[in-house]
Amino acid sequence: MSKKAYIKALANYIPEKVVTNYDFEKTLDTSHDWIVTRTGIETRHMSRDDESAYDMAMSAINNLKLQGIDLSEVDGIIVPTTTKEYIFPSTATLIQNALGLKNCFTLDLSAACSGYIYSLNTATSLIESGMCKNVLVVATEKITKDPNPEDRGTVILFGDSASVALVSAREDDGRGIIAMQMKSEVREDIISLKASGSAFPITPERMDNHEHQIFMEGSEVFKIAVTEFANSMNQVLEKAGVSLDQVALFVPHQANIRIIQYVAKKSNFPIEKVSLIIHKYGNTSASSIGLGLTEAYHEGRIKKDDYVLLTAFGGGLTWGSTLIKWA
Ligand SMILES: CC(C)(COP(=O)(O)OP(=O)(O)OC[C@H]1O[C@@H](n2cnc3c(N)ncnc32)[C@H](O)[C@@H]1OP(=O)(O)O)[C@@H](O)C(=O)NCCC(=O)NCCS
Repeated sequence: MSKKAYIKALANYIPEKVVTNYDFEKTLDTSHDWIVTRTGIETRHMSRDDESAYDMAMSAINNLKLQGIDLSEVDGIIVPTTTKEYIFPSTATLIQNALGLKNCFTLDLSAACSGYIYSLNTATSLIESGMCKNVLVVATEKITKDPNPEDRGTVILFGDSASVALVSAREDDGRGIIAMQMKSEVREDIISLKASGSAFPITPERMDNHEHQIFMEGSEVFKIAVTEFANSMNQVLEKAGVSLDQVALFVPHQANIRIIQYVAKKSNFPIEKVSLIIHKYGNTSASSIGLGLTEAYHEGRIKKDDYVLLTAFGGGLTWGSTLIKWA
């Protein structure tokens, strides 16, 4: 019998420190009202100075272990992140080492805010091909270090966190990850983070010009996001022969509440069936969908046989969806 991939367990890690919109009012020409109205963000969490992306990843994994989840049979680790520990060794390999896993491959995956979807879809393909049985997807982002602290258009958006999913093989009875979609397109003219790439060594001049930090033409990104969100959702549903009405829970990437509201309204999807976390955590890049999925699951919002739709859009540009029939 062929194998299907399914999500066996989920856990999050949220750093303790809360940064409010009022905190930004002290240093920037901004206001709590502007940020809430234009983005939906009320607070975001920030990691400690001495807490790296790897540290947050391990805290999320420890939260998974506290649920009694055995990780000794993990044979693949994928780490979607834009804030990896080093160029190499990969963050995934550091995690492998900490978990003492011998028969395991590791991969850091660069797809910005779509990283969780790209990783789930990659894990699914590896499981369906018979290459792996248990893949740990560990999204981790220390992204609050990347915007220019003086750029009110980006610095207010981001938060740190980590989220882990254990994706495992099961006999195919129609449940599990049932359809996937991914696409990319280069638009470095509207969103980029070029620092430390081989074409973009960090120099004192570039640092003075803030060229090593996140650049984003927010309103341009916004316009493409709303279109491609809807396209990606429709394509993955069509592949599976499932209608949007049948979806019990929608977990979108959380970059701006207005993107989510627009997409929900356009497709006539009730906002009550969306996992919304942006007000608490802001945009947490690759870990955002993991946070929303894990919170909804632990709140009892997902039952066996429910259709759960995950859709992301992010830097790259990258976008994609995963459709799950919950096992
Ligand atoms: C970034 C984003 C919140 C900005 O909101 P927006 O409504 O598009 O705002 P704009 O960038 O058009 O700016 C409108 C005005 O608000 C100002 N503004 C920007 N940030 C502000 C802030 N924090 N406080 C007050 N005013 C602000 C701008 O300077 C501009 O002023 P101006 O009209 O005098 O020039 C929004 O565009 C967005 O969420 N984009 C998509 C992000 C995304 O999906 N990214 C992909 C994943 S990372």
